[in-house]
Amino acid sequence: MKLERPNPFRDGVAAFGGAVDIDGATYALFVQTEAPGLFYGYRRQLTPLLLINGMLVIGAIAGYIHGVPRRIRLWSSILGALNRIAKGDFNVRVDYFGTDRRRGEDNNEFADLIDSINDMAVGLKKMEEMRQEFISNVSHEIQSPLTSIGGFAKALHNGDLSVQERDHYLDIIETETRRLSKLSDNLLKLSSLDSERHPFERKRYRLDKQLRNIVLSCEPQWAAKRIAMEVELDETPVMADEDLMSQVWMNLISNSIKFTPDGGEIRVRVQHANGAATVEVEDSGIGMSEEDRLRAFDRFYKADKSRNRSSGGSGLGLSIVKKIVHMHGGDIRIDSRTGEGTTVTVTMPD
Ligand SMILES: Nc1ncnc2c1ncn2[C@@H]1O[C@H](COP(=O)(O)OP(=O)(O)OP(=O)(O)O)[C@@H](O)[C@H]1O
Ligand SMILES: [Mg+2]
Repeated sequence: MKLERPNPFRDGVAAFGGAVDIDGATYALFVQTEAPGLFYGYRRQLTPLLLINGMLVIGAIAGYIHGVPRRIRLWSSILGALNRIAKGDFNVRVDYFGTDRRRGEDNNEFADLIDSINDMAVGLKKMEEMRQEFISNVSHEIQSPLTSIGGFAKALHNGDLSVQERDHYLDIIETETRRLSKLSDNLLKLSSLDSERHPFERKRYRLDKQLRNIVLSCEPQWAAKRIAMEVELDETPVMADEDLMSQVWMNLISNSIKFTPDGGEIRVRVQHANGAATVEVEDSGIGMSEEDRLRAFDRFYKADKSRNRSSGGSGLGLSIVKKIVHMHGGDIRIDSRTGEGTTVTVTMPD
């Protein structure tokens, strides 16, 4: 813009000016505000603002330059951790390197990523510990019957044994073989149930009839211990997998017989109310301490680890029961008092 006036400025009013090249010619460009008072007011406020902005820009550049090696350290730490996890080493903890770890508060994606990797390592470590514990339990459960089978088979070579001694040794070998076979059945069942590919066919059937049949099929065991067996079985239809549920009642009733001394009592009850079937298996047996009650559903848990061969079991029964009941959307509870008895209550949706 060409100046039309030689002196276009008003006194006491701020103006900006500078040289401008347009089409090869140089011009002087001046701008003068029409609101000088306002501008002066702003200038006082603008100066510190400009200073702060400048400092922020300088800070950001410095931070970026400083942040590059930190980010490289973070990535290499993350990749190192993932490599170790992939090789099966779960003792991994990624450092934050100053990244804000308060998850959710500042949306720092690095902190979230690091948290996830650390959580994953903790979870995998726990799973690995459980796997090792499982293998050690299985080995132990296999080892003890094998040791006794081997020992008694060797003893049978002795030609001086009486017929009674020989029969006794053969009985033990038979019992231990059964125990191994039951263990393998239970392990297969658990792994099949865990895989969630186990056949699961619900149909409507009479739960009271199923319980009656199982009580009758266990008669040799409870009659041998002179246990008074009482049943109260209301007509109760349920929608469930009959084979799997049969395993539930078999395990619970066998436990009651196993942990009730000679001459004791067992009561099996089923009631149908409010769209649910409630089964109670109550015994006057040895009962459980509070600690045992809380751990009874754990795999391989046995309150009495030194239990003799006759009452032997591998501590898998109740974990299978719980799994099956939960598969049906039901619930299971144990009430027990040491020396007084145990009641297991299973509630199944109709
Ligand atoms: N009715 C009961 N009375 C007292 N203790 C019981 C009773 N039922 C279970 N328990 C305790 O809970 C533990 C776990 O029971 P669970 O049925 O899982 O295993 P188990 O009977 O020892 O072996 P398995 O069922 O594999 O043959 C038992 O070892 C026992 O200590
Ligand atoms: Mg059992």
